[in-house]
Amino acid sequence: MQTIRIKGATGDSRIVVGERLANLPAYLPAGPTVIITDANVARLYGREFPAAHVIAIGSGEKVKNLDTVRAVYAELLAQRADRDVSIVGIGGGIVCDIAGFVAATYLRGVRCGFVASTLLAQVDASIGGKNGVNFEGYKNMVGTFSQPAFVLCDLEMLRTLPVSEVRCGLAEIVKHAAIADAAMFAGLEREAEGALGLDLGVVERLVHDSLVIKAAIVNRDEKEAGERRKLNFGHTFGHAVEAVAGIPHGEAVAIGMALAAVISQRRGLIAEEELQRFLRLLQRLGLPTWIQADRGAVLEALGKDKKRAGESIHFVLLEGIGRARVAEIPLGELREAVETLGLDGLAAPPGACGEVQIRSPRS
Ligand SMILES: NC(=O)c1ccc[n+]([C@@H]2O[C@H](COP(=O)([O-])OP(=O)(O)OC[C@H]3O[C@@H](n4cnc5c(N)ncnc54)[C@H](O)[C@@H]3O)[C@@H](O)[C@H]2O)c1
Ligand SMILES: [Zn+2]
Repeated sequence: MQTIRIKGATGDSRIVVGERLANLPAYLPAGPTVIITDANVARLYGREFPAAHVIAIGSGEKVKNLDTVRAVYAELLAQRADRDVSIVGIGGGIVCDIAGFVAATYLRGVRCGFVASTLLAQVDASIGGKNGVNFEGYKNMVGTFSQPAFVLCDLEMLRTLPVSEVRCGLAEIVKHAAIADAAMFAGLEREAEGALGLDLGVVERLVHDSLVIKAAIVNRDEKEAGERRKLNFGHTFGHAVEAVAGIPHGEAVAIGMALAAVISQRRGLIAEEELQRFLRLLQRLGLPTWIQADRGAVLEALGKDKKRAGESIHFVLLEGIGRARVAEIPLGELREAVETLGLDGLAAPPGACGEVQIRSPRS
């Protein structure tokens, strides 16, 4: 078991990798606890929850909105929850976002902690203090910065996770290694199969190393004024693909990272050999590096991104494997990269995604 700490202006967070759900009571202060979870997690793990009032939300990105938040507020009120209440989110990134948002706003903020139950939540969504919900189709449009008091990463809970969800978590792990840690990237190359097969020794190392990277960046730039933007590697283009093609977040991020690596190579920031290494690792992890989607629609979604500044867009590029920089990329260069590079799969069969509504995504 290993502990990582975040000390932020919005609170301190104690993150424990390898802690079990059964030990959650040891992290709870005296006073009432309300657990927020989703229906799947309640079905699989509800029996192991400590005695507490449980609010189970639905699952899927569609429930991550203010209607769900409002329903949870109403239930807290019905429970007469006051400022002594501790809110604990037990679930994946969606549960963490909802629980974190509710806890940061109910009565102007009550104590909050998470038991992260998906790989993606363990390496990314549960830590860092960002709690966002979607609004009018815009992703993470409304939210707060507020650090959870604790995050428990129970690795055993990953055993029930569908492999597609494991892959999505691995995409964020690749992201962390690619932007900050060449040795971790090499380790991932050595242990890709173990990671995918949920060898928990391998997974524990990867979760820990990922969290060390994210926690260090958050400790230096909690409110994303600069360095934290690096954590958006793969996400600007990824969110555009996610919105247009409706594929899972981790897969879209993999495609976004592949494109960013291609642009990095074209700009001479990484060697062709490093680009190939990068693409090969994604492929070995079962992650896509291109997609058949409406190229025009993807470019249009990109053009609407709020990280856009005039005719250019904030984009995270690699400077070798294990180092990243935030650059302003002219939209024309992005368009050219999408159109002319090994992402020809972006050319859609006619009408493939024509009906998809495109919104401007945020990380
Ligand atoms: N706030 C942040 O900093 C941050 C960072 C990254 C991602 N996110 C958000 O996280 C969300 C994605 O998170 P996610 O991938 O965890 O999705 P999720 O919460 O939807 O979980 C994925 C699926 O796995 C199920 N599940 C959860 N734990 C399980 C388990 N142990 N066994 C079996 N099934 C289980 C869930 O019910 C759900 O169906 C997105 O909304 C994204 O925007 C937030
Ligand atoms: Zn992500």
